[in-house]
Amino acid sequence: MSSSSAAAKSSAAALANIVSFCKRRGFVFPGSEIYGGLAGSFDYGPLGTQLKLNIKSEWWKRFVTRRPKDCVGLDSGILLSPKVWEASGHLENFTDPLSECGSCRKRVRTDHHLAAVLKKDVQMNLVQLKEEVSRLKASNGWCCPYCKSADLSDPKEFNLLFTTKVGPTGGGETAYFRPETAQGAYINVNNVAVAARKTKLPFGIAQIGTAFRNEVSPRDFIFRTREFEQLELQWFCSKEESMKWHAYWIEECIGFCVEQCGLRKENIRVRKHEKEELAHYALATSDLEFNYPFGFGEFWGIANRGNHDLTAHSKASGTPLLAAMGGPENVHIVEPSLGLNRLFLAILCDAFEVEAETKRTVLRLSPQIAPFEAAVFPVVANNEQIVAKTREVFQQLLDWDCRADLDDASTSVGKKYRRHDEIGTPICIVVDDQTLKDSTVTFRDRDSMKQVRLSPKDFESKNAFYSAVKSSFA
Ligand code: GAP
Repeated sequence: MSSSSAAAKSSAAALANIVSFCKRRGFVFPGSEIYGGLAGSFDYGPLGTQLKLNIKSEWWKRFVTRRPKDCVGLDSGILLSPKVWEASGHLENFTDPLSECGSCRKRVRTDHHLAAVLKKDVQMNLVQLKEEVSRLKASNGWCCPYCKSADLSDPKEFNLLFTTKVGPTGGGETAYFRPETAQGAYINVNNVAVAARKTKLPFGIAQIGTAFRNEVSPRDFIFRTREFEQLELQWFCSKEESMKWHAYWIEECIGFCVEQCGLRKENIRVRKHEKEELAHYALATSDLEFNYPFGFGEFWGIANRGNHDLTAHSKASGTPLLAAMGGPENVHIVEPSLGLNRLFLAILCDAFEVEAETKRTVLRLSPQIAPFEAAVFPVVANNEQIVAKTREVFQQLLDWDCRADLDDASTSVGKKYRRHDEIGTPICIVVDDQTLKDSTVTFRDRDSMKQVRLSPKDFESKNAFYSAVKSSFA
């Protein structure tokens, strides 16, 4: 076996491991499984739901509530007037290159297939793709990845907007499911500025919501799907300062990944877009990419959208946007756009480890985002007093607003530790005979497996309690 096919095999195995772990432990399930599935769709289980919520909540804190009052929130609709997508350029330009097989009729994304054929990253516009494909055709190197027929077409543009009909079936106007949350912020910017008393630049509008794209070929688990969540910030700033803010937001986004999500910096890289690769609206874009098992992939796009959107909507709607701040002549937009599902996958890949020595599976999640911050269990399940005390400690954790789990099944403590190591719970707490005498419990640290005895009663808050536990492990 060549070294490149061995590497491909081991990265496929690494991803397959994550996929089966996600299903087994209730992070992610295949979509519509009992009906044979729906390609590229997934459902999030109990732990996945909580992990997603925690990421969103940390993002909201860093990008809205903990900032010096310069960012506000918005929750705009999934369905907007079709005129929005016409003005924004999505109806005309939001396309991916597609090739169709004349023999088996399957369709592929031309750039993805070309990357597989050339065994390298492909970032090309349609003209460049067409040239490369005709070069390959001339040397019989362009064929369908499924049936191997040479009847695989040149690339055509395929629009990614999902359409629907608004109104009674049979009639009604064509509408589009939003492919990004951003446009909702642009068309509401005057309303937001008035309501939030924003009279000066810069300021930001943050939004979390689902976006839809009719992807040609969804793939790589939850990396490329037709429905996904975005966490987007639209930062309105002066034209002169837009590149300065672009650099600022790149650093902020990296900071969030490392400080809130616990991603290792060495697994993230910043990739600047070449001119011909830029989206139809962008003056400059840099992506944060994570080193997934299948290679580096974008999970956060940070674009300088210039005045494209404000100009387009002011013109098409006849409503001058942000006129008091100089309108599109003066106002530019910098947009950090994060794909939640891709960050979720990055976090799991980064945190997942099977320890060589102990063979235990550990998910080294940062405590801020771990589904459970702590788990409590009795040393034995058949002692009523100990079980009752365990419930008391559990209740105290809940009163402290701690995401806690209680496990009083008759399984051994060792097995319970392993179960919680696997789902990333940073601390396990065990209640035993000694607890009945002096209220102390055993704290066991997920990463070091060290233990310490302390009494939860001696502390007034979750934070005081956790810093005492942390310093005793340090
Ligand atoms: N508003 C700007 C915008 O939507 P984008 O680069 O097209 O920019 C932003 O998308 C982010 O959305 C990407 O970095 C990625 O994380 C996520 N994303 C895009 N398409 C996706 C898909 N098909 N599946 C999952 N996430 C996707």
